[in-house]
Amino acid sequence: MKIGILVSGRGSNMEALIHACQDGRIDGQAVVVISDRAEAGALEIARQLGVEARFMDPKSHDSREAFDRSLVDALKEAGVELVCLAGYMKLVTQAFIDAFAGRIVNIHPSLLPSFPGLCAQQQALEYGCKVTGCTVHLVELAMDSGPILMQATVPILDDDTEQSLSERLLVEEHRLYVEAVSLLASHRFTLEGRRARTDLR
Ligand code: GAR
Repeated sequence: MKIGILVSGRGSNMEALIHACQDGRIDGQAVVVISDRAEAGALEIARQLGVEARFMDPKSHDSREAFDRSLVDALKEAGVELVCLAGYMKLVTQAFIDAFAGRIVNIHPSLLPSFPGLCAQQQALEYGCKVTGCTVHLVELAMDSGPILMQATVPILDDDTEQSLSERLLVEEHRLYVEAVSLLASHRFTLEGRRARTDLR
């Protein structure tokens, strides 16, 4: 399965996915990485791993829809069948979702539907949660929403800061995202309404 990865920043989840494709844990090939931010460190990491990586400028498009149409064209040109959002901080439009119906997946650093949006780790800390986690889900129009494929929990310790919690979460994110994309690439999920099932659990 040909995989396209959308990023906006550091790219550690992208890197985990590319490594897993390259060493066979995911039965797929990362064919292109696209960033909506020129300065995203992910672009350089992808190139070093031998994956085509490009910046596409939202500002050179008249609307979010026009940008997403260009994005769809670029992904389709590369033959992409599954789109992984990996720290992609731009909201996608309906046209984008329709172009890859049921084949767009995202990772978020909270137990959705709690704490969507920015700074999810800080939101969980400030709320006083004792447990948080990460979620891999199919992408719907609203931010950080859609049928949940997999979740993992991470305890919040009394002396946690946003940084310490984010670091522990990131380890789980990398593990969970690889596992979920591996199952997706092997068509091992079925969806009944909003409930995703896999034959593994
Ligand atoms: C990750 O923690 C990811 O879960 C989060 O952004 C970070 C990107 O890090 N995504 C979201 O918050 C989506 N709403 P990375 O660039 O190192 O993968």
